[in-house]
Amino acid sequence: MAGSGTAHLRDQDDIVLRVEGLVVEFPLEKGQKVHAVSGISFDIAKGETLGLVGESGCGKSTTGRAIMQAPRPTGGKILFDDKDLSGLSADELRRSRTKLQMIYQDPISSLNPRRRVKDIVAEGLSIWEGKGSDDPRVNDMLAEVGLDPERAGSRRPHEMSGGQCQRVSIARSLIMRPEVLICDEPVSALDVSVQAQILNLLEDLKAEYNLTMVFIAHDLAVVKNISDRVAVMYLGKICEVAPSDQLYAQPAHPYTAALLASIPEPDPDAKHSDAGLGGELPSPVDPPSGCRFRTRCPRAADLCAGEEPQMRRGRPGPVRRLPLPAGGGAGTRGRPGDGVDPRLSPAAPTAAEPTGSPVGSAAVVRPGSVRPGQDRDTRSVSARTCCQASWQASAQSPKARSKKECGAPS
Ligand SMILES: Nc1ncnc2c1ncn2[C@@H]1O[C@H](COP(=O)(O)OP(=O)(O)OP(=O)(O)O)[C@@H](O)[C@H]1O
Ligand code: SF4
Ligand SMILES: [Mg+2]
Repeated sequence: MAGSGTAHLRDQDDIVLRVEGLVVEFPLEKGQKVHAVSGISFDIAKGETLGLVGESGCGKSTTGRAIMQAPRPTGGKILFDDKDLSGLSADELRRSRTKLQMIYQDPISSLNPRRRVKDIVAEGLSIWEGKGSDDPRVNDMLAEVGLDPERAGSRRPHEMSGGQCQRVSIARSLIMRPEVLICDEPVSALDVSVQAQILNLLEDLKAEYNLTMVFIAHDLAVVKNISDRVAVMYLGKICEVAPSDQLYAQPAHPYTAALLASIPEPDPDAKHSDAGLGGELPSPVDPPSGCRFRTRCPRAADLCAGEEPQMRRGRPGPVRRLPLPAGGGAGTRGRPGDGVDPRLSPAAPTAAEPTGSPVGSAAVVRPGSVRPGQDRDTRSVSARTCCQASWQASAQSPKARSKKECGAPS
């Protein structure tokens, strides 16, 4: 879109989380409101990772928080465990949140500065089971995320680095053994080497804890490597949803193509591309009529201002059988060292294959990062919202394609 629709939602038994027509608006003075999220829908199958990408301010964090009902959305349904979270009482909602956890965008400010790390991690156990920070699961969890329980447990957040704080956030979110983990830009505040460690840690824990994940980020390379499917957001709407490989190889929406074209190339001699996005994101207080992307879309036509394009499925892709993980991805963390496990130090990650990502990307694909049970149809559903039915990605590189198809000068 930016448009609406649910044609991309899947009808299968293993859908864990289904978001339908989610709307989040923030009231302003004089009757105005911020249209932060405007009728988006997506679903996530068990064990799947859905990447959520888009420019700053497009509504990614608002979507993550709306799933957690913090605050409750203005409209739409969040179906989890066969229940609509929006309709639950406060008590029922608190109970559901043990199975649905979120890692927040800023690792340091999301931790209570007055509490010790052990108490922060033990909070869920204390609330739900009356257990304290001496429960053995707290030390085990700290060790799981690569922190030395003896040294890190008694510190406070300001005595730790950003990467260590992010490990604490992950430990806190996993202590109650959730089913779904929403990661809101978990690595964007970290330097590149620490990003790789945290991403690998998340991949390992996902396999070990059998997690289903929503992974929010603006770094397209990071999202590509960690996600099974990717949803692209623009100004509170979803433009395109597709399996990760397909979306990056053949973007079906002009906005996705422009986003990919704007990724810098790790080649000092490469010419700067003109095919990236120009202009600013319009104000969500008064979004454009019709397709919200029309004010920046090189293919916009009169039709785009009058009608909001609806989600339309692409041709079904092949069902792929993926290899089972070697050892389930567990066992890549070992004896904790001084604060952080030495095997997670910058030299240690075992990058099985380079990502081919642009400069600055820390994403690393590791053996065992592919989850079992993905020999199903979950990878083949793609859809986009654009009135241009004929818009087809060619076999060219995203940059060349974007120039040609979006009419940018070559
Ligand atoms: N509490 C709030 N009150 C008013 N407006 C808000 C509030 N929270 C978010 N917004 C607005 O909603 C829109 C979406 O914000 P959101 O934080 O979800 O964007 P984002 O995609 O996560 O951006 P970033 O990549 O910078 O984190 C923005 O225009 C933002 O200013
Ligand atoms: S061609 Fe029209 S409908 Fe398609 S993305 Fe551009 S403005 Fe939106
Ligand atoms: Mg955000």
